[in-house]
Amino acid sequence: MTNQGDLIISNTRIVTPTGTKAACGGKMNDLTIIDNAVIVITAGRIIYAGPADDIDLQQPPLSSHSRFNAGGGVSLPGFVDSHTHLVFGGFRPDEFEWRLKGESYMSIMERGGGIQSTVNATRNEQSESLLKKAEWFLDRMIEMGVTTVEAKSGYGLDFESEQKMLQVIKQLQNDENRKLDIVSTFLGAHAVSDKFKGRTSDYVDYIINTMLPAFKDLAENCDIFCEKNVFEIEDSRRLLLAARKLGYKIKLHADEIVTLGGAELAAELGALSADHLLHVSTEGIKKMAEAGVVATLLPLTAFALREPYAPARKFIKAGCAVALATDLNPGSCFSGSIPLTIALACIYMGMSIEETITALTLNGAAAIGQAESKGSLETGKFGDVVILASDNYHVLPYYVGMNCVKTTIHHGRIVAQNP
Ligand code: NIG
Ligand code: FE
Repeated sequence: MTNQGDLIISNTRIVTPTGTKAACGGKMNDLTIIDNAVIVITAGRIIYAGPADDIDLQQPPLSSHSRFNAGGGVSLPGFVDSHTHLVFGGFRPDEFEWRLKGESYMSIMERGGGIQSTVNATRNEQSESLLKKAEWFLDRMIEMGVTTVEAKSGYGLDFESEQKMLQVIKQLQNDENRKLDIVSTFLGAHAVSDKFKGRTSDYVDYIINTMLPAFKDLAENCDIFCEKNVFEIEDSRRLLLAARKLGYKIKLHADEIVTLGGAELAAELGALSADHLLHVSTEGIKKMAEAGVVATLLPLTAFALREPYAPARKFIKAGCAVALATDLNPGSCFSGSIPLTIALACIYMGMSIEETITALTLNGAAAIGQAESKGSLETGKFGDVVILASDNYHVLPYYVGMNCVKTTIHHGRIVAQNP
């Protein structure tokens, strides 16, 4: 499956953002629409995406490409889910019920539940079982049109268990039957390890001195839960500077529960993205826009935690690039639903349908540093395509929480075909 495909998609309407950088502010609305189009993918890369009338498909070598008739359906770039906690042990359904009864996410965490409970389960679970579970979620994602997914560690919080998680992610990446791309993020600073209880700075030192250098070949990005009473600004800055120095790209869980200045820190450090941002300050939005940091918004988490949604319109008005992602994890957001992400973004965050498409494609790719090769249907980019069951992309939020994806194509190969 990892060898690259030669495929011609015909009878389709292309709907795509364009460019090799994140689309900022008002530009998020700019989609190119090409009717009666074809997409030609050679060796996994798009060599043509344009009007059917402008290309001779009978000439060699195109005459020997496989053919796929999209039945008039819309072709979008493959979705990039740029923020997930894909690998985890156990589940936390009881905690969800406690939250329904009024207990807060942070109070559950402070009394040893929350992230720590998944840490215990992850430490106790064999790699093989973690892998199988992650594969199940990956298959569901592919059906929803995801062709690239970011996966974080962060449920180990000690050397062996963080390494185990990153090795599971590496195994998924190296699987020769792999049907999507996986980007690995080290999140050892997801919570203060129980082994360093009350000694946050010592744990940060341990991550800096021991884990970060050892995991360089296992992860491309480094993330941190920058939050009050977890890792506050000074410790976050220290850790992220060390990660950046070692060559990791950096990301932050920022201003999720309270306004702390995580957005400002992301701007100061030139992070790829700051994520969540439910409680971002006006200054933080301005600084992120100026610094070109992608604002990755996670509406499913706000929905599941019954929190206010992140201010997408303010980010867009300030000229920031907004990405959308699922945040799939066993606690705050046990959902990887792309359809519901789109619906919530449109219905509750006031994003246009065009903006949500850009946010899940080009800007999602930018949030993992891959906008040069992914996120739009243009010559030179990977042949990652989502074909909808309709010729009208407005169905995406309209069919609330339901999957409009008919076919998912990864690097020129059909990887999901929904009934
Ligand atoms: O992105 N807030 C921190 N991390 C995750 C939740 C992890 C969990 O609850 O297990 C998040 O929301
Ligand atoms: Fe997260």
